[in-house]
Amino acid sequence: MSAPAVVLITGGARGIGYAVAERCVARGARVILWDVDAEALRSAARSLGPLAFAQRVDIADAHAVEAAEAALPHAPTHLVNNAGILGRAMAFDAMQAEEIDRALAINLRGTLLVTAAFLRAKAPCDGASILNMSSIAGMNGGAKGHAVYGATKGAMLALTAAMARDLAPELRVNALAPGIIDTEIQTQLFADRAALEATTAGIPQARLGTADEVAEAAEWLLFGAGYVSGETLRVAGGRK
Ligand SMILES: NC(=O)c1ccc[n+]([C@@H]2O[C@H](COP(=O)([O-])OP(=O)(O)OC[C@H]3O[C@@H](n4cnc5c(N)ncnc54)[C@H](O)[C@@H]3O)[C@@H](O)[C@H]2O)c1
Repeated sequence: MSAPAVVLITGGARGIGYAVAERCVARGARVILWDVDAEALRSAARSLGPLAFAQRVDIADAHAVEAAEAALPHAPTHLVNNAGILGRAMAFDAMQAEEIDRALAINLRGTLLVTAAFLRAKAPCDGASILNMSSIAGMNGGAKGHAVYGATKGAMLALTAAMARDLAPELRVNALAPGIIDTEIQTQLFADRAALEATTAGIPQARLGTADEVAEAAEWLLFGAGYVSGETLRVAGGRK
């Protein structure tokens, strides 16, 4: 018999990761949130209830990921590689090595370290899968000044293809490419609410997306979509 689903979600303390956790819990799955923000983690776990477990982990820190793996409360069956940062805006002639490294360490190296930990720790489960949170920035280069972010998200698409090939048939691996979703990451990108709303002019659906709309697609790719692997689905209101 297959084990009940246990979904490891990085960056699960808020935003899109939290919305995915809510949907997992609503269908009776356990969730394990790995996030660097201790306070947000505590409040997320409290709101999600007894099916949720929180571990403070900086996914850019290999030792922290190993320690969290050793302390997992349950063997996971599914993984959502969701934690990510936008990083500071930098023009191409003003790249800062430290800032490049920080984005790569979290968005790319962190994804690889967590995936390795998940693969070592996972419980056998029919229909197990991995979901990588990319972005349409990985396809179109991203907002002006955010090329490094776009490059890390493009790398996640390549990783999705490689993982889907190398981890089959035990695991399906897919990616989501959200557009502009109304979470804290966007409040960093736009100077004020008016600037954020103004960007809706460029979105065919004429509004920002919600974290739950991304989570809805995540739920399908994680638990349904039995013959879908190696794919990227845009959740971007028609934006490319
Ligand atoms: N919001 C958007 O418009 C949008 C669009 C496309 C893609 N995405 C991607 O979706 C994912 C989630 O974004 P969000 O909008 O929910 O952002 P968010 O900032 O609201 O949430 C990100 C979460 O990741 C956690 N995190 C950051 N660094 C971490 C680290 N080193 N270790 C562990 N946890 C860490 C944060 O504490 C936070 O809880 C990101 O990968 C982001 O790039 C977001």
